[in-house]
Amino acid sequence: MTWHPSSWRDKPILQVPEYPDAAQVSAVEAQLGAKPPLVFAGEVQNLRSQLGKVAAGEAFLLQGGDCAESFAEFSADMIRDSFRVFLKMAVVLTFGASLPVVKIGRVAGQFAKPRSSPVEMVDGQELPSYRGDMVNGIDFTETERVPDPERLLRVYEQSSSTLNLLRAFAQGGMADLHAVNSWRSDFIQDREQADRFTELSERINECLDFMAACGVTPQSTRRLSETDFFTSHEALLLNYEEALTRKDTITDEKGWYTTSAHMVWIGDRTRQLDGAHIEYMRGISNPIGLKCGPSLDTDDLLRLIDRLNPENIPGRLTLIARMGAEDVRQKLKPLLKAVKGHGSEVVWCCDPMHGNTVKASTGYKTRRVDDIFAEVKGFFDAHDEVGTYPGGVHFEMTGKDVTECVGGLVEVTEQDLADRYHTHCDPRLNAGQSLELAFLIADLLKNRRDQQNGLRKAG
Ligand code: PEP
Ligand code: CO
Repeated sequence: MTWHPSSWRDKPILQVPEYPDAAQVSAVEAQLGAKPPLVFAGEVQNLRSQLGKVAAGEAFLLQGGDCAESFAEFSADMIRDSFRVFLKMAVVLTFGASLPVVKIGRVAGQFAKPRSSPVEMVDGQELPSYRGDMVNGIDFTETERVPDPERLLRVYEQSSSTLNLLRAFAQGGMADLHAVNSWRSDFIQDREQADRFTELSERINECLDFMAACGVTPQSTRRLSETDFFTSHEALLLNYEEALTRKDTITDEKGWYTTSAHMVWIGDRTRQLDGAHIEYMRGISNPIGLKCGPSLDTDDLLRLIDRLNPENIPGRLTLIARMGAEDVRQKLKPLLKAVKGHGSEVVWCCDPMHGNTVKASTGYKTRRVDDIFAEVKGFFDAHDEVGTYPGGVHFEMTGKDVTECVGGLVEVTEQDLADRYHTHCDPRLNAGQSLELAFLIADLLKNRRDQQNGLRKAG
């Protein structure tokens, strides 16, 4: 089974747009093929080795961002706000759980959406579904819903500017731990949460003062003011990925990489063993994710693991479970046991969003914060029972104060959903709800560690 960047074209494929003009698609692919890579193989390998630490239980993965990026919502402020919330979550986790946190955004390429139905019906009119700004327009008109390949070029350009700004934020001072205090409560409306964050930042400042007294400062140690921030998206449109696939000529590994992002994942709807998506993904050397929904059975999962990571490289494969709060314990445990029994070195990550989407009485697609938190807890419990490591979370969030998920300390009710419901696809956690999630995970990781220390002492 020889692989090359276009070998997926001989396989059955799902979720592809039907473009009216094939010649125009080829012309766009050729233009993309001549563009510079967005990421460099050395960075991708660095991420893989950091994820290898997660697989070994020595670090935690935080992966999150928009459900779907859009052309309309693109602005420096939007990127900054969501990066800041993400960093706050990472600080809560790093400090709360005393673990290094690997940070991966759903950003700078997350524009294409798999859909459950190819068509959408509004007031008796049927049109093709919106498949993300990478494919067609969100407005419910016939012209907007026609797939347009020029959108692939626009995605590349927007991803490139987004990544440029994120690199500047990550390395240019915004991630400086000394600035944690100044981020304090700019959006935290809930008293209890604001106090918790203030207390945390005061403790961090004490540590920083102590380290400075010992001579460890941002000048002597760049890690205090910089962070690694990686990008990821669902690799849904394989012609885009193929055009950005490059052979690494600089590092010693010499493999093929998609240079559209550091990590890419396979969606729950496109993970057929002999389908095009698995074929493409098996040949690239990037770390990859595989969404594992409730319909995945253990034998299929083991076959997918063998196909995607035949050499069992730690950090290569992240299994992103999205079972839903109700089913997580019962559905996840057999998979955890089977993968453990198979001896596979994987990262297990919890996506508590996609199995918990419901329709509110007001008609909006929403998610209950309580369900999201319950799935995370269930995920930790299942790992506890099987003796595996709950390595990360994968979530949809924004830095803005949107009203898309119901619940939270500053409660969003079903009636509030209409106020600031801005998402182009799925409902996202707002800034406050995201931070609550970070505190919850920090507590779960801390409990886990205390329990293990207790066991070690008792033993
Ligand atoms: C997503 O992550 O936005 C998504 C569509 O997920 P899934 O493939 O798990 O449904
Ligand atoms: Co989504």
